[in-house]
Amino acid sequence: MPGIPFIDLKTQYARLKPQIDTAIQEVLDDGRYILGPAVEKLETELAEYCGVRHAVSCASGTDAIFMPLLAYGVGPGDAVFVPSFTFTASAEVILLTGASPVFVDVEAESFNLDLADLERKIAETREAGDLKPKAIIAVDLFGLPADWNELNALAEREGLHLISDAAQSFGGAYHGKKVGALAPVSGTSFFPAKPLGAYGDGGAIFTDDDDLAATLKSIRVHGAGADRYEVVRIGINGRLDSIQAAILSVKLSVFDGEIEARTRVADIYDDALRDVVAVPKRIEGRQSAWAQYTIRTDKRAQVQAHLKEAGIPTMIYYPKPMHLQAPYAPYGGGQGSLPVSETICDQVMSLPMHPYLNDNDAKRIADAVGKALD
Ligand SMILES: Cc1ncc(COP(=O)(O)O)c(C=O)c1O
Repeated sequence: MPGIPFIDLKTQYARLKPQIDTAIQEVLDDGRYILGPAVEKLETELAEYCGVRHAVSCASGTDAIFMPLLAYGVGPGDAVFVPSFTFTASAEVILLTGASPVFVDVEAESFNLDLADLERKIAETREAGDLKPKAIIAVDLFGLPADWNELNALAEREGLHLISDAAQSFGGAYHGKKVGALAPVSGTSFFPAKPLGAYGDGGAIFTDDDDLAATLKSIRVHGAGADRYEVVRIGINGRLDSIQAAILSVKLSVFDGEIEARTRVADIYDDALRDVVAVPKRIEGRQSAWAQYTIRTDKRAQVQAHLKEAGIPTMIYYPKPMHLQAPYAPYGGGQGSLPVSETICDQVMSLPMHPYLNDNDAKRIADAVGKALD
């Protein structure tokens, strides 16, 4: 089965080419290439899309979680709680502020934070007394929103800042609210392979908090005050390019239909595979953005080899939990300390997932998984 891409950005471009080409040309003609009118337009559209007061665009999904930490003044001596089963960026930003990550285990079925372990880690950190619990970064892994009602209540009870790493879940929803509106502050990524992807790096931060939005806007331009050359805080170069913003506006106009198409692929996979492997958990009231369709099987190597033979690409997100990665090891409890994260790293495998995967190909991929395990 040659020619099935893991993610198909070319078909999407072919569909949107006239609008995207025009949008890029308009920016070139306008001459404002960073934070220009295209960026302002996108920010208004994004805020409206997910129902928040402010969307502050930025340079990447990494900056989208780094900047809120800077805005909250997180730094040396602070503990920030983060799942171990995630992409490195979720934890990296903590160390970049000088704070310490405290790694928390996840639930095998949803891939998201295990709230009982989170409470345990907060209590242990308080008891140890070396670090001050300051914030939680919760990740909506593979596109499925975490349990935001519980997370918001827990963060409030514990007096911690709560940051949503929604890099993979933009376009998803939780009990009628869109991702972006589920936490006091949420950051997403517009990396090309993400559900809403640009043609380069990009990100956005969502909040209803006017003061926080103003601080974030200052942080993304080197901590500028009302006057551009008055420095009122330490910031970064966290700006979004106008060309990326113009492309994203076009893609946002078809985004809901693409999420539906991803869900259709997930439904086909589910129907064919639920008795064969562990399929991604569906949770009442939560819509995944289906950034990935990730199965779990103890026979992963066998399935991957069979699919490769059949011309079907697969990916392993993620092969090693963060608490066992070299730069984070000093902050973790070592092998055996987060058993679920460690076990699922040996089981997970993501299948091709994009809105332009037709039903026949989705069925053929699922059949190949079945045959690999016959
Ligand atoms: C969970 C998670 N957080 C953060 C990021 C960082 O996003 P970016 O690559 O846009 O910096 C990613 C991107 O892969 C991610 O998957």
